[in-house]
Amino acid sequence: IADIQNDIDHELVSKEEIQSLIQSAAAQVSKDYADKDPLLVAVLKGAVDTMAAFSQALSIPCQIDFMSLSSYGSGTVSSGTVTIRQDLSADVRGRHILIVEDIVDSGRTLAWLVEELKRRGAASVEVFALLEKPSRREVDVKVKYRGCEIPDEFVVGFGLDYDERYRNLDSIAVLKPEVYQGEQA
Ligand code: PRP
Ligand code: MN
Ligand code: MG
Repeated sequence: IADIQNDIDHELVSKEEIQSLIQSAAAQVSKDYADKDPLLVAVLKGAVDTMAAFSQALSIPCQIDFMSLSSYGSGTVSSGTVTIRQDLSADVRGRHILIVEDIVDSGRTLAWLVEELKRRGAASVEVFALLEKPSRREVDVKVKYRGCEIPDEFVVGFGLDYDERYRNLDSIAVLKPEVYQGEQA
């Protein structure tokens, strides 16, 4: 019988740690945005779990919206050229936007999105990212609120995928090497 736990090499952030990191950031955001009626914007699909947990952890009213983006580039390297697959339904003009991301790696998609929302006339644009890989950053983009930094290891779970799988794992983990080797063969 297939069991997701069998594919995990080790856990990096437990589900309790995830909730506690999200609670701390959400408490700060609830203070900072108390009078701002924020619009939370998440990028599909990785940020879905983070958006759900983070929005529930806020003590202030907010709106949520989603965007589907695709970055074109050679293989695993994103070119920074981003196209919109599915746009927001909200008009962001004059709104205080908080982008909610699962992870910031190179920062390319995020940097594009921050600029795009500013172009559309947002009153302010800030970012909450659950995870950051500082060693992989290529583009300087300000992440005002963060969960934690992780080393340069490929992680899955809590929305993050390997080849569209493992998003439904409730912690952040590193897969066994043979899981990737199987796919490469
Ligand atoms: C992942 C992740 C972030 C982005 C980070 O999304 O969810 O959105 O990559 O990488 P970057 O900082 O180098 O831009 P992905 O493109 O895999 O799509 P997904 O969210 O649907 O998994
Ligand atoms: Mn993503
Ligand atoms: Mg992905």
